[in-house]
Amino acid sequence: MDTEKFTSTHAPQGRLEGPALLAVAAVALLAATAAAVALGDTLTDGLRLSIRLTARTSLVLFLLAFTAAAIAKRWPNRWTAWQLRNRRYLGLSFATSHLLHAIVLVALLNWRPDVFWQLTQIFNIVSGSIAYAFIVMMATTSTNWTARRVGPVWWRRLHVTGSWYVWIVFMVAFGKRIPAHPEYALAIVLLGAAAVLRLTAHRRRPA
Ligand code: HEM
Repeated sequence: MDTEKFTSTHAPQGRLEGPALLAVAAVALLAATAAAVALGDTLTDGLRLSIRLTARTSLVLFLLAFTAAAIAKRWPNRWTAWQLRNRRYLGLSFATSHLLHAIVLVALLNWRPDVFWQLTQIFNIVSGSIAYAFIVMMATTSTNWTARRVGPVWWRRLHVTGSWYVWIVFMVAFGKRIPAHPEYALAIVLLGAAAVLRLTAHRRRPA
């Protein structure tokens, strides 16, 4: 996809569109994260709850942005057109959700370093930090001006590589929890379906 095509799909057409969508998502995410911290029996529980919550809100927002073009191509309708038109803002909402994941992680590290290091290995820090570097680069190249500065070729390289890398980190983070919590298989099924949709989308002619 070239940068012009990318930017031309972003004209807001309704209320929950464009920057308004991002603002609503950011306020809702912030409120939900704060509520999760408050709901824990202890501050440690609350912080852990909000880390898990923001990982899950991130997954939903990531999948919406990741599959937008493929789904709109396969099932063109009003909803998928909305999803495609707002792909940039869904991606930025994902970045916001993951920023909250990072903020609460740092809070847990400061509050209970022993608990943080029980839950985290150095591998998670390295792979997670690379994911954050991609998320920051993708978010900062998600304005018309920065997208044009980067150019369509590098924009596409960055966003394709970054989103597949984040997909892998989600797969590993949810997959490793399946032995203790089999219900996490649902996340793997959703991630797998999203990958199949993306990989097969280019074979279909637009309707
Ligand atoms: C340096 C970066 C990161 C660190 C230190 C980190 C740390 C953690 C910790 C400690 C938990 C467990 C919380 C608990 O069980 O109470 C967690 C959960 C999780 N994180 Fe992160 N994370 C990082 C980045 C990421 C990234 C980049 C992703 C995805 C792209 C991600 C996805 C997840 C998922 C899926 C869970 C499981 C949520 C659940 O149990 O429902 N994390 N993370």
